[in-house]
Amino acid sequence: MSVPATNVPHHVAIIMDGNGRWATKRGLPRIEGHRRGVETVRTTTFAARDLGVKMLTLYAFSIENWKRPQEEVGALMGLLEYYLKKELETFVRDRVRLRTIGRTEELPEGVQKVLRTTIEETKHFTDYTLVLALNYGARTEMVDAARSYAAAVAAGKEKLNDSSWSTFSRYLYTADMPEPDLVIRTSGETRISNFLLLQAAYAEFVFQPVLWPDFTKADLAAAIADYNRRERRFGLTSEQLKPAAAK
Ligand code: FPP
Repeated sequence: MSVPATNVPHHVAIIMDGNGRWATKRGLPRIEGHRRGVETVRTTTFAARDLGVKMLTLYAFSIENWKRPQEEVGALMGLLEYYLKKELETFVRDRVRLRTIGRTEELPEGVQKVLRTTIEETKHFTDYTLVLALNYGARTEMVDAARSYAAAVAAGKEKLNDSSWSTFSRYLYTADMPEPDLVIRTSGETRISNFLLLQAAYAEFVFQPVLWPDFTKADLAAAIADYNRRERRFGLTSEQLKPAAAK
C-alpha cells in the first residue's frame, strides 16, 4: 500500500465546538455564537468540497445538548430550521446530497419536515454528501443498532452464529457510509464527546484551538495537511505498509 503525497481524506467529520466561548468573549449572548457557527457550517460545506473531500459529517446537535437551557435549545432548533430552509436551493443547485445520523424522529416537527424535503430532493446526488449528526449520540446509536439487530435475529433475517462487525455495522445509522478518515475538533478541547465512537476506530484526530465561528478553509486545509503527515497503519507495522520494491 503506497501513500500518495497528497492524500485527501474521503470522509471528514467535525466536532464544531466553541460557539459559546466565541460569543462570551465578545460580550454577546451564546446564541449569537451559534448564529455565526451556522455561517461557518455554510462556508465549510463548500470549502471541504473544494479541497476534494467527498463526505463531510458535522456534529450539529448531540443527545446531551437537550440538557442545555431551554432557551438555547429552542434557538438552536430555530436556527437549524432556518438554515435548512435557506440552503435547500443551494444544495440542489450545487449538487450536495444531505443526509442525517441520529434520532431525528425526536426533533421538532418543523425541522423534521424540512429535513425530509431536503433529503428527498438531494438523494440522487453522488459526488458530495453533507451528513448532519442531529440528536446523535454514539451510545444511543449502539443501543438502537443492538435493538434492530436483535429484531432481525428474532425474525430469522440474521443468524446469531454469523455475527461479525460487517453484519452488525449494517444496523448502525452509518450503515451505507464510509468510516471517517479524519476527525477534527475545534476550540482546543481534546475529547470525542460520544461522537462516532465505533466508526472512528481507525480515524486520525486533529485538534485545533480555533473557535468554530472563526474556522476557515485554511484551518481545514491545515488539518488535511496534518493528516497527510500521519501514517495510517490499521494495526499493521510500518514495514508492512511499504511498497514491495522499497523494502
Ligand atoms: C458547540 O458550541 C456547538 C454546538 C452545541 C452545536 C453546533 C451548532 C451549530 C454550529 C449551529 C447549528 C447547526 C447547524 C447545522 C445549522 P458550544 O456552545 O458548546 O461552545 P462552548 O463550548 O464555547 O460553550
